[in-house]
Parts: sequence; C-alpha cells; structure tokens
Amino acid sequence: MKIVACYSNKGGVGKTATSVNIAHGLAKTGKRVLLCDLDPQGASGFYFRVKPSKKLTEDRFFTDVKRFTDAIRGSDFENLDILPANMAFRDFDVFLSRMKNSRSRLKKALASVDGDYDVILLDCPPNISVLSESVFKTADAILVPVIPTTLSERTFEQLLEFFAERDLPKKKILGFFSMVQGTKKLHAETAAAMRAAHPKRILDISVPFATDIEKMGVHRAPVAAFAPGSPAVAAYDALCGALAGRL
Ligand SMILES: Nc1ncnc2c1ncn2[C@@H]1O[C@H](COP(=O)(O)OP(=O)(O)O)[C@@H](O)[C@H]1O
Ligand SMILES: [Mg+2]
Repeated sequence: MKIVACYSNKGGVGKTATSVNIAHGLAKTGKRVLLCDLDPQGASGFYFRVKPSKKLTEDRFFTDVKRFTDAIRGSDFENLDILPANMAFRDFDVFLSRMKNSRSRLKKALASVDGDYDVILLDCPPNISVLSESVFKTADAILVPVIPTTLSERTFEQLLEFFAERDLPKKKILGFFSMVQGTKKLHAETAAAMRAAHPKRILDISVPFATDIEKMGVHRAPVAAFAPGSPAVAAYDALCGALAGRL
C-alpha cells in the first residue's frame, strides 16, 4: 500500500481538485484507492456525494480502528472508496500535540486498512502543523500543486526549507503546476524559472486553468465523469502515470 499526499501550505491551489481527479484516475487503471479527506471543510467527500460520519471524532480517527474503518464509504466508482472529513478534524492538531509519538500516529491509523487498498490519497488542509508533519513522515510521495506566480513560488521554497531544516526526505516532494493560464507571461516565466531551479522536485506536468474543474462543484463528480475529453483529464492522467512510475 502506497500513501500519496496532496499537500500545500497554501490554500486554494488545487489540492482537492487534484486529490479527487487523481483518486478517480488511479481507480480507473484498476488500483484500489482510498481517498482520505483530512481537511475539516470536507470538500473531497462533497465532490463524491458522500456524507461524513459524525462518529469519527479527532481522537477516534487515531485510536479506534473500528470507527475508522466503519467511516469509510463506497463511491459511485469502481475501486474507489472515500473517508469523508467532518468538522471534528479541525482538532487533529490539538489532539496530536498531546500524544506521544504524534508524528507516527497517522501511519498507524492508515496501517489498519493495509491490504484493502493499493493507494491511499490524503487531501490535506493548508498549513504546516503537527498533522502536516505526520503527513510528511507517512506519505511515500507528496504532490504539491503550485500556481506559477511569485507567492506560490515562495510557498514552495518555504516547504523545501522546512524539509531541509527537519532533515526530512525532499525526494518525496513532487511539485507540479496548477491552474496554468497559457496566455499569462508571468505563469510561463515563473514556471520556467522554478523548473530550472528545482529540476528534480518539479514534474513536467501542468494542469491548465479549466472551467471543467470549476464545474466539479455542480456535477459533484471528477472531471472525467462528465467531460472526459477535457485537457484537465489528460493532465491528471499524466500525473497518475508519473506517480505510478515513482511508487
Ligand atoms: N485547474 C483549475 N482550473 C480552474 N479552477 C480550478 C482548478 N483547480 C482548482 N480550481 C478551483 O479553484 C478552487 C480551489 O481549488 P481546490 O482544489 O479546492 O484548492 P485547495 O484544495 O488547494 O484549497 C475551487 O473552486 C476549484 O474548483
Ligand atoms: Mg482543499
């Protein structure tokens, strides 16, 4: 079982859009996938029309295997299950910071479904916290959507610095460009500069800015389910391919 996180310390960059579409894309190729939503806003579950379990509180997530597995829901798609988030997940950090070995707790919780899934995708909330440190430790790969603008570049650098300071394995970090607008000179220039600065940390994949992705909220489904010919689907499939090659 491999664990892939969609993470950025910045909000609104496409973590959830990526999690949802990659989860669907990997399941399409026959992998058994669990999409685990760690963001209390619960957007991933919303996109898959899955209601959250109120019984899975922040403490039980990490300590009660039965409650954890009972909270997993099927989706409308073959090979794809969802663990929807609920508002209690906003207290993950408070709970984890009180626990011994807090950074290995997430790995332990996910190990309870080892054997049932080939890939677990983690849709992460946007911060650097005890929870994100657990994610960094647990994930085999960390997909980081980067909008090619100055602020996002800075956020990506901050993440790399954090990994360097904590002696975390940078090779887990796989950046890619998100919401790319071909007409914007700044996007092209920033992307080129970032690729040159971090050739090993940034995949040669760009998810375009696409109205079809925004429409996921209306259809409540991954893009491939209602607009299979969208360039966004090709980009997400390329991301799935890159991931499969690395894991
Ligand atoms: N490639 C894209 N093109 C157009 N809109 C996008 C794209 N990716 C995400 N969005 C939209 O931007 C908003 C934030 O995306 P989301 O995936 O929820 O970000 P995050 O999870 O990082 O906060 C959502 O409304 C989503 O529909
Ligand atoms: Mg999100």
